[in-house]
Amino acid sequence: MKLALDKRDVTLGSLDASISGVFQRAEKDDAFPRTFAREDAATDGLLKAAWDRREIRGRKKEITVVHRPDGKGRVVLVGLGTRTAANHETARRAAAEAVRALRGKGARTVGFRLASFVTEQVGSEAAFEALLEGAALGGYEFLRYKTKTDGGVEEAVVFLGEEHQREEAGLKRHLERTVVLTETVVWTRDLANLPADTASPARLADEAVRLGKELDFKVQVFDEKKLAELKCGGLLAVGGGSTTHPPRMVVIEYPGAGRTGKTIAIVGKGITFDSGGLSIKPAATMSEMKFDKSGAVAVLGILRAAALRKVAPRIVGILCCAENVPSGTSYRPGDIVRAYDGHTMEILNTDAEGRVVLADGLGYAVDKYHPDEIIDLATLTGAQVVALGDDTGGLVSNDDKLANLLLEASARSGEPFWRMPLTDYHRELVKSDIADVRNHTELTVAGMLTASAFLETFVGATPWAHLDIAGASWTTPSTRKWQPAYQNPGATGFGVRTVVGYLEGR
Ligand code: BES
Ligand code: MN
Ligand code: ZN
Repeated sequence: MKLALDKRDVTLGSLDASISGVFQRAEKDDAFPRTFAREDAATDGLLKAAWDRREIRGRKKEITVVHRPDGKGRVVLVGLGTRTAANHETARRAAAEAVRALRGKGARTVGFRLASFVTEQVGSEAAFEALLEGAALGGYEFLRYKTKTDGGVEEAVVFLGEEHQREEAGLKRHLERTVVLTETVVWTRDLANLPADTASPARLADEAVRLGKELDFKVQVFDEKKLAELKCGGLLAVGGGSTTHPPRMVVIEYPGAGRTGKTIAIVGKGITFDSGGLSIKPAATMSEMKFDKSGAVAVLGILRAAALRKVAPRIVGILCCAENVPSGTSYRPGDIVRAYDGHTMEILNTDAEGRVVLADGLGYAVDKYHPDEIIDLATLTGAQVVALGDDTGGLVSNDDKLANLLLEASARSGEPFWRMPLTDYHRELVKSDIADVRNHTELTVAGMLTASAFLETFVGATPWAHLDIAGASWTTPSTRKWQPAYQNPGATGFGVRTVVGYLEGR
């Protein structure tokens, strides 16, 4: 979606729809707000008529559409709920609701009146970014395999009006940032939505190489031969079952724009299809496991946006890609696998494969780059979804400062994360009798945290944050109903905006 900014009042734009936010009305004595005088004039008083008949209540998700008698498009009001409870996430969701409501109705260009979304708690810069993000992400559809489409909004413009005209220069910088972030999220959604026959480990590696050419990254792709040389036992074990799509490790380096000298490694789980392997999953939701590559795809997105935003630290992205399927060459329950860094892993369930491939990626990052920090993103456990639902990511960290900065970035992005504990209790549970760690525990409690304890083995003392994004990385037609309107059916690109926000150090 094309995004832009306009200094004028929204009613003066030649738009298919001009959109304002409306807060929840009082039960009585609530006169038509004077702030909508121009909209009302544009509709020859029809807007006020709708207000007087209490058609407009200002409740969240409420959309009121009034066509202008002069034929110059629609005036749209989108409900925001109570004014005191509003925050920037309210504006992000409302913009998405409006854009989605207009889909398939011949509205190609929309304008938002910034002032109507700004409150005592929501500053103009936060509201500005949120509106454009909500519009661009809410307007996203995965269309690659559709032969027909209704067509939706193609351009969203935020109108500053008299109230915010003077902030034009500053808001332009926010426009540039939002364009990079939303285009990146759309790009990661498109990639994560690809089915497993297409988005193989080799294809993810190709995407990394293409991105590297565009943005001047050093990109290394390790195929199964090179992985054997490097002794990446985890990737070889998990990827060994696939006769068609062998595993890949991809290492991408962005040199960093600053002189901070800081190196941050970002490691992603890239299981292009997780059938469970020999410990096979039930059929019902197995199709969703094409999304098990979401962490690795998010890493690609994070590098793309970080480079375009010219963030200061040097960033090393590592993608651990494999297909987890059963066959005569699959790894087996009972196998003992040696990871890149030499630690041994007892495999008790081949469906706990994410931690096994990440073991190699984390160990490689530590050994080759001695990073100041490691962040990993992974659709790692069903337990994460049980604990936190499908809107919130799990954060586990051995470093309070890193954890708190990520939580601050999460509050700004609107992508919720919640920190969970990692203690000796969990470390004890993943100790193996015959190897260093085991990938499945005898007591199956706290699955997100025992998985974290397993990963911690491979980062040593490096400050590290693990983002378990199993719940929020995609929606299904039924979970979609309960999600913000900017999360579309399929891949969400969850985590990208938060981690980029963290790297920007805003
Ligand atoms: N990719 C799954 C985790 C997952 C499940 C993500 C459902 C999103 C929705 C992961 O590889 C997995 O299968 N984990 C197992 C681990 C268990 C066998 C210890 C799980 O969570 O059930
Ligand atoms: Mn699995
Ligand atoms: Zn998995």
